[in-house]
Amino acid sequence: MAKRNLESLQKQYAKPSHGGPGGPRGGGPRGGGPHGRGMGGKPKNAGHTISRLLKYLRPYTPHMILVLVCMLTSTVTSLIGSYLLSPVINHIAGIDMSADASFFTKLADTIISTWAASAPMTFLSDTLGLGGPFPYLLAAIVIFAVIYGSGIIASYTQARLMVHITQGSLESIRNDLFEKLQRLPVRYFDANPTGETMSRFTNDVDNIDHMLSNTLTSLISGAITLLGTFVFMLTTNVWLTLITVAFIPVFGLGGAALAKRSRKYYKEQQAALGAVNGYIEETVSGQKVIKVFNHEQECEEEFALLNHDLRGKQYRAMFWGGIMGPIMGNTSQITFAFTLGVGGIMMLLTGFTPGELTVFANYSKQFSFPITNMSSQMTTVFSALAGAERVFAVMDQEPEQPDAEDAINENTAGYAGIKGDVVFENVTFGYVPEKTVLKNISLYAHPGQKIAFVGSTGAGKTTITNLLNRFYDIESGSITIDGIDIKQYSRDYLRKNIAMVLQDTHLFTGTVMENIRYGRLDATDEEVIAAAKTASAHSFIMRLEHGYQTKLEGDGANLSQGQRQLLNIARAALSKAPILVLDEATSSVDTRTERHIERGMDRLMKNRTTFVIAHRLSTVRNSNAIMVLEQGEIIERGDHDDLLALRGRYYELYTGMKELD
Ligand SMILES: Nc1ncnc2c1ncn2[C@@H]1O[C@H](COP(=O)(O)OP(=O)(O)OP(=O)(O)O)[C@@H](O)[C@H]1O
Ligand SMILES: [Mg+2]
Repeated sequence: MAKRNLESLQKQYAKPSHGGPGGPRGGGPRGGGPHGRGMGGKPKNAGHTISRLLKYLRPYTPHMILVLVCMLTSTVTSLIGSYLLSPVINHIAGIDMSADASFFTKLADTIISTWAASAPMTFLSDTLGLGGPFPYLLAAIVIFAVIYGSGIIASYTQARLMVHITQGSLESIRNDLFEKLQRLPVRYFDANPTGETMSRFTNDVDNIDHMLSNTLTSLISGAITLLGTFVFMLTTNVWLTLITVAFIPVFGLGGAALAKRSRKYYKEQQAALGAVNGYIEETVSGQKVIKVFNHEQECEEEFALLNHDLRGKQYRAMFWGGIMGPIMGNTSQITFAFTLGVGGIMMLLTGFTPGELTVFANYSKQFSFPITNMSSQMTTVFSALAGAERVFAVMDQEPEQPDAEDAINENTAGYAGIKGDVVFENVTFGYVPEKTVLKNISLYAHPGQKIAFVGSTGAGKTTITNLLNRFYDIESGSITIDGIDIKQYSRDYLRKNIAMVLQDTHLFTGTVMENIRYGRLDATDEEVIAAAKTASAHSFIMRLEHGYQTKLEGDGANLSQGQRQLLNIARAALSKAPILVLDEATSSVDTRTERHIERGMDRLMKNRTTFVIAHRLSTVRNSNAIMVLEQGEIIERGDHDDLLALRGRYYELYTGMKELD
């Protein structure tokens, strides 16, 4: 490809609306930005999404109530704890609190004094030989310890419970999502690339996790703190409270403005990060092709371009994200100073006590925090809700049409099982409505017959087999097996009766033995080995380091293309299905091995209906019937000799020549 500029690269590799292509890579630095996580856009229907999320939390209702109690306890204890400072300071300063002090100061003073005069405390101070203000102080310390101690226990319990709730509900969400994926039609995966689907599990679930485990609790406890602080401030001094409240718009609006700005840069940064990640992924998976065409230099340059762009955007995002805390902190220092100044004057002119001023100043300082915090947390909430919405959207996808109530399966009474008499009648099909891929396909295959499909690339051969096992449902015409429409069988049963070697097949992570056994889970080791022998795979497997116990990884990356095919054939050979489909099953295998397989399979295919698709025509020679497909239509049919005699398309394909009349 020609070297691209930054703009076109970004367009190609970044999908900003989803936090970078394939999200799993676009997760962003954890907690790096001001809002922690990948920006997931705005939820479309927040109310609905929240109620669905709540469904996952419902099993934890008792836990949640306990969490709320803990939250209340920890917030209230910290509020009360700091209030206790008021009588203590006043007491030490020798100020008479009976006259001007506020209700709570008096209350706290009474409690501490009563406790100081109680038997255990007098005993303790007498033993220690303490006099003067010390018994009072000692009593205060004990009360402090009790209050803060219960606060700590409450926070700890709350954290433990929250982890339990969050991880439990996330587990259910992931399970539901995965279960849904298993039920989705093949069509869904045509339309949604792997990366997209992956990001439902990673990015989106991650965002929900973050919201549930951090944001939600900090929002609630923020609100409680705010309310509690306000009440305490109000009872302490109305005028000073008014001053503090007057500063709220500064914090609220200032915080929101800063958040908006940093959100903008954060979004850009996420997109840039997505582009970089997408680019890396593509170059890593396409490394061989890059080397073959000597594109390393261009790749490096393109990457540097994207990377430099990321640097700039990350810088701005970090700067504006990082500046927020200090700015808000400094603004709150100003209120602090202002409050102290006015309070000091009040102390001189009215009966305002130093203890109360100290406490009030503390409160006014912590008052702004929940406000700025809450305004920036909202972003996390939004992106988590948007993520949840996408997760639920997948869950809401139309699954494969459920089987009919009375669908035929192995349990159907008096049913002997599929024999394999396949009939296609006037089948017409297109993957997308506007484009017909197969037109009026009619054919039949009796048990034991071998039917071959040949034809040029894209003619529709694979499509025919996709219809037989109902990867896709047909629009018109009919497909029957043993005279029964395939839609009347349960899907599981139908697919169990069709062994397939797919054109783009897959080996799973696991041993060779496990991979072959995928064809029939209850097969014994001996049966697996017999199947491998049928597929001519046995001898190469025995040459592997650990034989049948050799681990395969990444779709069998440590095997040759042909060896992979042999394993896939072995898998199909293991199946006892009466219908067998081989789609280019031996295209990468040498001709000698192919003949071997053929002989092995001939035994296997004796009573089965077999469909073979092959470009190599030697493979299809001995078929009972050969269908020549061109642009979705069967243009010639017959056995090898018939078709050669016809001197048509098959003859052309077979001899590589056009017959000149
Ligand atoms: N999942 C899909 N979604 C949309 N169109 C598809 C899909 N799969 C195949 N097609 C289209 O359907 C047509 C037939 O494809 P098919 O895979 O059946 O060809 P084929 O005969 O098996 O070719 P080949 O010999 O290359 O395997 C092609 O034009 C292809 O572009
Ligand atoms: Mg094909």
